[in-house]
Amino acid sequence: MGTGTEKILVIGANGQLGTELTEALRNVYGAAQVVASDLHTPSHPAGDEGPFEILNVLDERRLRELVREYRITQVYHLAALLSAVGEKKPKLAWELNVNGLLNVLETAREGAIKKVFWPSTIAVFGPNTPREHTPQHTVTDPSTIYGISKLAGERWCEYYCAKYGVDVRGLRYPGLISYKNPPGGGTTDYAVDIYLQALETGTYQCYLAEDTYLPMMYMPDAVRATLELMEADAKRITIRSGYNIGAISFSPREIAAEIQKHLPRFTVGYRPDFRQQIADSWPQSIDDSTARNDWGWKPQYDLAEMTRDMLTNLKNLKKPVLA
Ligand code: SER
Repeated sequence: MGTGTEKILVIGANGQLGTELTEALRNVYGAAQVVASDLHTPSHPAGDEGPFEILNVLDERRLRELVREYRITQVYHLAALLSAVGEKKPKLAWELNVNGLLNVLETAREGAIKKVFWPSTIAVFGPNTPREHTPQHTVTDPSTIYGISKLAGERWCEYYCAKYGVDVRGLRYPGLISYKNPPGGGTTDYAVDIYLQALETGTYQCYLAEDTYLPMMYMPDAVRATLELMEADAKRITIRSGYNIGAISFSPREIAAEIQKHLPRFTVGYRPDFRQQIADSWPQSIDDSTARNDWGWKPQYDLAEMTRDMLTNLKNLKKPVLA
C-alpha cells in the first residue's frame, strides 16, 4: 500500500463520515500521516492523536498552503451541505458543494496530489430515474439542490480526470447509518435518530411515511468501500463520476420492526414533512454491479446485523454523542 509515503488530507473531518474515515485512515497509514481538517476544532476528536487544521475549503489559498506545508499526496474531500439542509440554504449548498470541489480539483491538477476521493450520492437521481435496482448509467434529473450540485460535481470529476489526468474517485453513497457522530442534515437521517430515540424515550416520530423505501448502508461498510476504492489499481477504475454502491434497502416500518425485536415496547408515529417529497424522488434500491465487477465491492451488513450492532454500541456509550 505504500503507507509510509502517503500524506492524506481529510476535509470535513468532523462530520458523520469524516470522523470515522479519519480514524480508519489513521489506523492504516499512521496517525501522523493523516491531517484532519474542518471549519472548527472537533468536539469529539476522531482519533487520539494526529494533526488537525482549521480549513474552509472555499479558501483556496489556505487549502494550497496546507497541501504544501504537509506535502499532501491524497485528499478526501467530504465537506458538503446535504439534502434537507441544502433546501433551506440552496445558494450556500451550491457554493460549498461545487466551488469547494473545484478548489480541490484545481489544487490537485497543479500539485503533488496523486489521488482525490469525493463523495457523490443517491441524490443525483430524480423522479424520472428507475427506482428499483437503479443502474449506474440512467436518467439523472435531481430535484434537490444537493442532488443538482453533486451531479455537477460528478461531471467536473470526470472532466478533470479526462482532461488533466487527476486520479479522482467517488462513490454514490446511500443513507449512512452510524452511532459515533450525527449525520449532517440529510433526508435519510431518520434511520440514525430512530435507534437513539428507541433507547432514550422508547418512541419515535418519523418524518417519512412508513412505506418509504430508501437505500442505506452501515458505516463500517461505507468506510471499507471507500478504502477499497482508493486502494484499487487505477486500471480497474472505469467510473470517475461516482460508483453506485448498494447494501440494504428498507422502509421506516421495517427498521422499526427490527428494533422491536430487541425493544418490544418501542413505538413509532408517522408525520411526513418536506423530506417525504425528496425521498419519493430517490431510488429504493441500487444496482451496484459495476462497483462489484471493477473493484470487488460487496456489502457485509444487513438490517438485522446492523440493528444488533447499533443498539449494542449505543447502549455501551455512556453519553451518546448523538444526544
Ligand atoms: N444521506 C444523504 C441525504 O439524505 C443522501 O446522500 O441527504
